[in-house]
Amino acid sequence: MNVVEFDQATLRIGNHLVLADISLAIKGGEFIGVLGPNGAGKTTLMRAILGLLRPSAGNIRVFGRTPRRGDALIGYVPQVRTVAPELHVRGLDFIASSVRGGRWGLPKLGHVDRKMIDESLAAVGAVDLAGRPLTDMSGGERQRLLLAQALLGEPGLLLLDEPLISLDQRYQETIIELVGRFAGERNITVLFSAHELNQLIGALDRVLYLGNGRAALGTVAEVVTSPVLSKLYGSDIDVVHADGHVFVLSRGRHIEHHDHLHADHAHSRDRQRHA
Ligand SMILES: Nc1ncnc2c1ncn2[C@@H]1O[C@H](COP(=O)(O)OP(=O)(O)O)[C@@H](O)[C@H]1O
Ligand SMILES: [Mg+2]
Repeated sequence: MNVVEFDQATLRIGNHLVLADISLAIKGGEFIGVLGPNGAGKTTLMRAILGLLRPSAGNIRVFGRTPRRGDALIGYVPQVRTVAPELHVRGLDFIASSVRGGRWGLPKLGHVDRKMIDESLAAVGAVDLAGRPLTDMSGGERQRLLLAQALLGEPGLLLLDEPLISLDQRYQETIIELVGRFAGERNITVLFSAHELNQLIGALDRVLYLGNGRAALGTVAEVVTSPVLSKLYGSDIDVVHADGHVFVLSRGRHIEHHDHLHADHAHSRDRQRHA
């Protein structure tokens, strides 16, 4: 069964055309790496799958239905994550807050299903984070907690929007391995957006490249080629294979690294922490 289907879907933000006439189908249990430079539309695509943005033309279907907000079958880790430093919220309270739907409402623990929370914490190896305040966690630990939160309600689809961006390499590998393993065990479909293909190459089944308002979905061998990516981006792209890695270059520069700058508070804090 297809979990996500786009049928000639066009996504606009205001008057701005983000993705035009996209058709694609993602099957149950697939791990899809969503790639493309900043501004390519990765976040917009996920927001449309969540029902937060309707296509201006065409159709999107998720689990065979029109996307609707708050679908319990979808777990989501959004790209922008800020933790108000004055909130000395424990990991457990943070997760509990999402059980009742409100992101920042902090319910009393008796009101939430503690067993469900413990199971999702265990799935990402984060049981010990329950009692610690978020402000004391490293980027990698916080990311595990967010993953645990996204796993509540046993989703069939996980949308992870650049979960690696503020992490150093060791934590990046751990997160990829973790997601690959628990999604594989539970047959969860994963859309995992990232800037770097090589990190994900061992975990993914297919890649979805976005660029220039267009999309290309297929295996790495099908999509990550000079002709396909040059057509997608409308400019000459070189694909270089070296050392078991694939490098996508535009005029000698990695396309993923173009405009790859995020003024993210958590980011700079983590850098200091791991320095
Ligand atoms: N709230 C917004 N208002 C106007 N334009 C936006 C907004 N959010 C995103 N965009 C634009 O939509 C395009 C796609 O953005 P986005 O989906 O965030 O890309 P990505 O996640 O791949 O970096 C970009 O050109 C971006 O500038
Ligand atoms: Mg984004």
